[in-house]
Amino acid sequence: MDTQQLKLDIEALGPWFYPFSLAPGVVTPSKVPQEVQGIFETRRQMLEHAARAHFGHRLASIRAVDVGCHEGYYSFALRDLGVPDVLGLDFREDNLRRARFVGQCLGVGGVRFEQADAEELNPALLGEFPLVLCYGLLYHLENPMRVLRRLYALTGELLVLETQVVDEVDGVTEWGSREWTRPFHGVLAVIDETGEYQEGNAETGSTPVVTCPSPRALRFLLQAAGFRDVQQVDPPPGAYEQLARGKRVVVTARK
Ligand SMILES: C[S@@+](CC[C@H](N)C(=O)[O-])C[C@H]1O[C@@H](n2cnc3c(N)ncnc32)[C@H](O)[C@@H]1O
Repeated sequence: MDTQQLKLDIEALGPWFYPFSLAPGVVTPSKVPQEVQGIFETRRQMLEHAARAHFGHRLASIRAVDVGCHEGYYSFALRDLGVPDVLGLDFREDNLRRARFVGQCLGVGGVRFEQADAEELNPALLGEFPLVLCYGLLYHLENPMRVLRRLYALTGELLVLETQVVDEVDGVTEWGSREWTRPFHGVLAVIDETGEYQEGNAETGSTPVVTCPSPRALRFLLQAAGFRDVQQVDPPPGAYEQLARGKRVVVTARK
């Protein structure tokens, strides 16, 4: 494809979330502010670290699924790590159109993109994946536990999940009488994304009602879904500030 046509296609498909380098001197114009774009590489490094630590040379023989894949940035990152068969899922067809375009421009084989709602993932249709990736999705969900159960059903060995987290809240609540109490296992904060949702923002969930977990809640929900050995991945030196400060976390969890 000639460069002029490539630029026209990029413009027609936008707005773009990630800065993909599609040809010499041609980068998709990310709408993410420059000072925030460091988040992409930090999360990629954390994914690479987690995937290599668990699978090692077996990365070259597994299949992986990227749930909430958007334009496929981390699906392509998995392919770059040598995973031969990657399925990217997202419920927004517009995002997937850009993902497929990137794949075509870069001539990447072994990565497919399909439309799917994370709340309705069907392992009977999709099968099991040794590696399940779920980045940047959990805190855009109305029903995070339902999705964690779906992810557990899809996971063959390892889930790598990234999410925003809210500050921890510890405490007890009354539970039927003044004397009867129950401890909290962290909290799910309720967030209103109505504004972004109604503006057609391509990163929100399928409804404007969002919950965001605290770290303890995240661990508890993952374990309640069936996962074990939940570990937080250390941010690398020079990490994007939110990951460095633990306001976003990457965790691994085993089936
Ligand atoms: C904030 S973006 C994160 C994209 C990418 N995973 C990342 O971390 O950079 C959230 C993505 O999840 C998708 N998404 C939101 N709710 C979904 C759902 N219920 N099922 C599937 N995809 C969903 C959105 O369309 C969007 O592409």
